[in-house]
Amino acid sequence: MANSVTLVEAAAHLRVGRLVAFPTETVYGLGGDATNDRAVAEIFRVKQRPRFNPLICHLASSEAAAGLVEWTATAERLAAAFWPGPLTLVLPRRTGCQVSLLASAGLDSLALRVPDSTIARQLIAEAGVPVAAPSANRSGRLSPTRAQDIADDLNGAVAMILDGGACAIGIESTVVSLLDEVPRLLRPGGLTRDRLETVVGPLAGPANDTITSPGMAAAHYAPDRPLRLNARDAGPDEALLAFGPDAPPEGLAVCNLSPASDTAEAAANLFRMLRELDRREFTAIVVMPVPTDGLGEAINDRLRRAAKASQPAT
Ligand code: TXA
Ligand code: MG
Repeated sequence: MANSVTLVEAAAHLRVGRLVAFPTETVYGLGGDATNDRAVAEIFRVKQRPRFNPLICHLASSEAAAGLVEWTATAERLAAAFWPGPLTLVLPRRTGCQVSLLASAGLDSLALRVPDSTIARQLIAEAGVPVAAPSANRSGRLSPTRAQDIADDLNGAVAMILDGGACAIGIESTVVSLLDEVPRLLRPGGLTRDRLETVVGPLAGPANDTITSPGMAAAHYAPDRPLRLNARDAGPDEALLAFGPDAPPEGLAVCNLSPASDTAEAAANLFRMLRELDRREFTAIVVMPVPTDGLGEAINDRLRRAAKASQPAT
């Protein structure tokens, strides 16, 4: 766990433009000073992320977030209900906004989030700057939910990795665009659609273009092994990612996302179990059906993307 000395040290790295990996309640982030062009460029380089895919800016408070964008009444309601927490809001950049244009990937909007993790908020407050942070994985790979996942993926590329243990939610934040009249769900995530809709009513779906939701264009979140979805059982050389009480017992080739059929538990286990089963001795990972209630919408979104990414090119 991060103590106050390591937090102060990590914040000092951020202030001089270095990168720090830090825990949030969703997944680990690869953080840099969002107002520093070189730090932001370094994030794109280390992640090998396409420059057209913008980053989320992390703040320690709603007030700090509101100061960067054209804040709205809907933003205020959502922030009051769900921040700090696993919700990212996309709003128009305010004139004179100090956040690097590179973080917005040339768009005139900005994605903002106040994370619930205490370590994350203490780090941001101590650094005294907005922190741009994508998930701390190489572009296209599974998001890290434990500090050791980052060491595996981004070895040596960051000044420091803060260890906050396993992420409680385990799946990335829900991204909602407030650029149009009706709030638009750009990415299902750690905050369920149901909870959002109790505050703002029915959400619009992602627009069918890559400008409004740039990160969703590419295939994403993929293990090395091909993935087969909605299967009942695995072949002899295949690993099984199971769900529910009717699955075979757990073992070397079987992980169960949630024996009790709880989608929140399944989200917390998803990326760790995909990593665990992504081993050379298996020809594929087959996944049992996961219901779409609660965090199931986000889980099924990530599984579909992972399956798409692992399909042979045609
Ligand atoms: O839970 C999370 O959201 C984690 C933690 C570290 O906060 N971060 C994360 O970041 O998942 P990343 O970069 O992997 O995903 C950010 C998503 C992408 O789909 C990106 O396209 C979208 O947010 N995004 C960022 N800025 C945007 C903008 N201005 N307009 C539309 N989408 C935006
Ligand atoms: Mg990511």
